[in-house]
Amino acid sequence: MERSLIILKPDAVQRGLIGPILSRLEQRGLKLLGMKLMRIDDALARRHYAVHEGKPFFASLVEYITSGPVVVAVIGGNGVIQMVRNTVGATNPSNAAAGTIRGDFAVEIGRNLIHASDSPENGEAEVKLFFQTEELVDWERSTDAWIYE
Ligand code: RTP
Ligand code: MG
Repeated sequence: MERSLIILKPDAVQRGLIGPILSRLEQRGLKLLGMKLMRIDDALARRHYAVHEGKPFFASLVEYITSGPVVVAVIGGNGVIQMVRNTVGATNPSNAAAGTIRGDFAVEIGRNLIHASDSPENGEAEVKLFFQTEELVDWERSTDAWIYE
């Protein structure tokens, strides 16, 4: 089973969009395995975005993601990495398709509301970076037979 780490970034929390954004993922039929409100500190931000170190936007990205509370969550299931990325939309909201989270709620790349893991390997690494095993819930969903054939 794939796992995707999503982060509702500080702009999503400040703008009161936690509910509407989570609703998109929830309504699609994606299954939550964990969720919490937290503040990302400088060290965690640098680890999470280590792949972008040295790029011109790195400092502002770290400042952005540490600027206020975030909601982090884990979504699990077959193929969830790509499905969540599709629902989130293109990195730059100005190019994101209407109907996607970024395409419907955001306008600029530096305020693009949500992070989602970009590969199964990164999903696993990011889940471990943000959650202890005991914070995640393994549960049977009674609606699964209506979502998965
Ligand atoms: P994320 O990691 O946040 O889910 O976003 P992503 O995969 O769609 O985009 P990525 O290339 O990983 O970039 C990470 C975040 O850095 C900011 N960014 N700014 N100014 C720029 O050119 C630029 N490029 C990237 C965005 O906040 C992006 O989500
Ligand atoms: Mg990324």
